[in-house]
Amino acid sequence: MDVNERDLTQWLSDTELVVCVGAGGVGKTTTAASVALRAAVMGRRVMVLTIDPARRLANSLGLSEFGNEARRIDLSAMPEVKGELWAMMLDSRSTFDGLIDRIAPSEEARQRILDNHIYRHMANTFAGSQDYMATETLYDIVRSGAYDMVVLDTPPVKNALDFLESPGRLINFLDERVLGWFLQPYDASRVFGQRLMLGTSAVVFRLLGYVFGRDFLDDLAEFFQDFQGLYAGFVERHDAVVKLFRSPSTQFVTVCAPSESSLDVAVFFQQELAERGLPRGGVVVNQVHACEGTDHDARRVLADAVARLDGDVEPRALARVLARLGMAHRRLRALAEAESTMTERVREAAKDGGFYQEVPRLDGNVHDLEALHAVGEHLFKPARVL
Ligand SMILES: Nc1ncnc2c1ncn2[C@@H]1O[C@H](COP(=O)(O)OP(=O)(O)O)[C@@H](O)[C@H]1O
Ligand SMILES: [Mg+2]
Repeated sequence: MDVNERDLTQWLSDTELVVCVGAGGVGKTTTAASVALRAAVMGRRVMVLTIDPARRLANSLGLSEFGNEARRIDLSAMPEVKGELWAMMLDSRSTFDGLIDRIAPSEEARQRILDNHIYRHMANTFAGSQDYMATETLYDIVRSGAYDMVVLDTPPVKNALDFLESPGRLINFLDERVLGWFLQPYDASRVFGQRLMLGTSAVVFRLLGYVFGRDFLDDLAEFFQDFQGLYAGFVERHDAVVKLFRSPSTQFVTVCAPSESSLDVAVFFQQELAERGLPRGGVVVNQVHACEGTDHDARRVLADAVARLDGDVEPRALARVLARLGMAHRRLRALAEAESTMTERVREAAKDGGFYQEVPRLDGNVHDLEALHAVGEHLFKPARVL
């Protein structure tokens, strides 16, 4: 191995949480599943968590049904596997309800929240709730201690910051001071409705009631009343997730492809991760066009192939085929060179940020274990250190 190369086996056995980030369509889900499979092959008990609405991971693992429950992937077709691979798909709404199940102080409070119209609306439309729920479920899974390693696939983000900030945004939304303001005019021991028209926020409530109707007001009051009790739980979990993200056993892997837009996102992520002091595992440029050998090598390979033919090939037809193959090779080489120039800026941004790895574009899609394994072979060859 070159001095500037690094064996990633140790990285794979030391890491407890891998978070794959990057633009959509570049291969985050593929990378997450390949990393997880590789670790399972090595002997670890691994959970891969995906929130990909396209459910591609489900296909690639040969699962027809894929709810938000942990499922063990059948790896019996791969005899060398020593560990276990588990997978779970996150469905934001039911997970949100699941979260209420876990932190509601009583059955009565739980039912009230779940039936509340404001809650239902929020659970359905809360901006970033998918990201938020991913981090919540992640928290539960990591805390359960059931897995040696968790690999988190993330949704394609419009704004790369969304994902990293998602826990914080709900906390801000539920800020205690805001809750307090809404709750100020009444106390919990009395009946709703009658007391809404007192205190500082009375005017606002009256206005809201006028616009949205009395039922809405009752729902709103009830919602804030119930959520007040949950606030401490949210904060505690949020702090734990932030701590988990900062832990050195967590590694963020930025995935991109040789396209300007995904490289923009990758560069941005490298900067953001560095600024926030989050552990950068490395960068993967997926779907590159690999072209080995020079033009000279190609000519020699072709000449050797011709020498092995049985003579009954028409020379002019052969010359034409050779010319075309030569041209295809030169084009591929030019493409590989252009990609290498294009990806330079991500290598620059990834300096001191872990490994740098390129995975070639394989023939066909990566939708089964065999292909995931093939991607893993490329991911875990000695990586470049920048
Ligand atoms: N190295 C590769 N070679 C060939 N196809 C790939 C490769 N990586 C990913 N793909 C295919 O590209 C598509 C997008 O990959 P996916 O992992 O779902 O991206 P993302 O999760 O980033 O949206 C999938 O159909 C996948 O099978
Ligand atoms: Mg995906």
